[in-house]
Amino acid sequence: MYVVKSPLTDADLKTVSEALQGALVDLVDLSLVAKQIHWNVVGPRFRSVHLQLDEVVDTARLHSDTVAERASTLGVSPDGRAATVATTSGIGATPDGWVKDTDAVGALVDALAAVIERMRERVGATGEADPVSQDIFIGITADLEKHHWMFQAENG
Ligand SMILES: [Fe+2]
Repeated sequence: MYVVKSPLTDADLKTVSEALQGALVDLVDLSLVAKQIHWNVVGPRFRSVHLQLDEVVDTARLHSDTVAERASTLGVSPDGRAATVATTSGIGATPDGWVKDTDAVGALVDALAAVIERMRERVGATGEADPVSQDIFIGITADLEKHHWMFQAENG
């Protein structure tokens, strides 16, 4: 069922919708991973890491909404269901139970690296098809890379 007419050709829309859907699941998962560790972090650096994790949650939630609504704008139904996120996210397994602060930071470095790698691929894939969506991916990548820098610096 097509309710919203896309300004893109079918071929370009396929490229862009796959990129937007992939970004959506990665960002939803990133928000969940960051919250999971926010709740479970322990250790001497608890407070700073606990608070820093919520900054990632805020970024991930904001941008998940941006990419989902960009998909809707282009006439593509976004899929942010838990089962879809669980099976298609690019983020690896998250540790269960309490997480030492150093491990918590390491987990975020790894999760952000995985999302950034895929986001940069989307930047490369969408420039011709839809520079407007590409611009969104570029902005998201910049924000994620800033978080990535700060978590790497935490364990420096
Ligand atoms: Fe909290």
